[in-house]
Amino acid sequence: MSLLDKIDKENVPQHVAIIMDGNGRWAKSKGLDRTEGHKEGAVSVRKVAEAAARARVKFLTLYAFSTENWLRPQEEVNMLMELMVHTIAKETENLIKNGIRVQAIGDLQRLPKKTKSALLQCIEQTSSGKNLTLVVALSYSSRWELANAAKAIAVGVKNGVLDENSITEETISEYLATKDMPELDLLIRTGGEIRISNFLLWQAAYAELYFTDTFWPDFDEKCLYEAILDFQKKERRFGKTSEQLEKENQ
Ligand code: FPP
Repeated sequence: MSLLDKIDKENVPQHVAIIMDGNGRWAKSKGLDRTEGHKEGAVSVRKVAEAAARARVKFLTLYAFSTENWLRPQEEVNMLMELMVHTIAKETENLIKNGIRVQAIGDLQRLPKKTKSALLQCIEQTSSGKNLTLVVALSYSSRWELANAAKAIAVGVKNGVLDENSITEETISEYLATKDMPELDLLIRTGGEIRISNFLLWQAAYAELYFTDTFWPDFDEKCLYEAILDFQKKERRFGKTSEQLEKENQ
């Protein structure tokens, strides 16, 4: 029985997010330049997105470039931005063929013109994909997103569109970049670190967390399915007791 067959299709996490870490260390371990790690990481993106679609995951959000990543050496930043353009150009046809719709979250204004326009074109060309939504988090950080939401809510209150007394958790969710996406079910981090690094902090409130030592370029279909199977073993109580859940499911 393959790992994919072992996955209970009735209980697949609808929204999976991945902190793709370890490209640099993967390259170093092989005596290669960091650049090679990122290139191999881009290959993993394709493999894992297609594997997610086969498992019937609906949303896959990938942390491709954080707000903090702008602080990396300019050469590496340029290389990553070029890699995005190249990968998008190479993969768009394949994405369409696999019914994968691309979306992006983050401060896209900061992206080089070429990267931004390649991305927007890919978003448009893949917009009718029905199998999986692949959300690329680019120039994204959760605190940036939350500060933006706070600003927009403040403007709403000032203009009388919002009443401060009726601001709820749902209001905040509505003002986040993820507003049209399902709740985050499973957050995976590759590369051995146990932290969330300013990624989907609000959205991860009830997500199951899965950390693996595997470097991102080595993370493949099998690794994704192992993470999903691990998710399926968990009892998600959302603050309730096991007994309450049992009664609700009777
Ligand atoms: C973290 O590894 C990875 C990144 C900062 C970049 C992620 C980018 C890709 C996987 C390539 C292209 C992506 C798309 C969506 C086309 P690291 O450099 O921090 O690794 P290290 O911790 O081992 O140094």
